[in-house]
Amino acid sequence: MKKITLPQASKLTSPNPVTVVCTQKPDGSTNLATVSWWTYLSYKPNMIAYAMAKTSYSGEMVRNNKKVILTVPGAEIADAVLGCGSTSGRNTDKVSKFGVELAEVEGSPIKIPLHSRVAIVCRLKEYHEVGDHYLYICDVEQVYGDESEEALFAWNGYAQLRPVK
Ligand SMILES: Cc1cc2nc3c(=O)[nH]c(=O)nc-3n(C[C@H](O)[C@H](O)[C@H](O)COP(=O)(O)O)c2cc1C
Repeated sequence: MKKITLPQASKLTSPNPVTVVCTQKPDGSTNLATVSWWTYLSYKPNMIAYAMAKTSYSGEMVRNNKKVILTVPGAEIADAVLGCGSTSGRNTDKVSKFGVELAEVEGSPIKIPLHSRVAIVCRLKEYHEVGDHYLYICDVEQVYGDESEEALFAWNGYAQLRPVK
């Protein structure tokens, strides 16, 4: 083996997971941001975590209102998910810019992309500074799934989004 950088390692671990972090903006609308760095943490109680750059607008939203839904996007919205990963909700309405069709989630003010394989409805428990990111640790309130949607993964590091098949 030879020494490599951590970003190079993320190419070697491709395909990497992809989620869309859905948060509520102050006007009540939904912001969508693409996030690969997430993990299950605990089943008893149900907990997950994800990491986002300190500068992300999504982070600001969840630190304010504690509400977030992580979704695993379906194959049909690959282009939009890539777009949501290169623009900020601070100055862009990504839902309209990328034409993402949204669905309601019972009991939540946050909407999610209609084409989602999994949706994990969370409440922020705590967050920690980790280098240039914050790690968001969340309690899971509800989980929804739809097997008919094919999950997207990130290939070649984070450059392309495609299913595994
Ligand atoms: C495939 C892919 C994966 C990404 N994964 C992460 C991630 O795990 N954490 C992160 O902070 N940003 C990640 N990004 C970048 C964010 O989506 C990007 O910074 C986005 O503009 C943040 O939007 P926001 O400012 O509306 O929150 C990823 C982008 C792509 C395309």
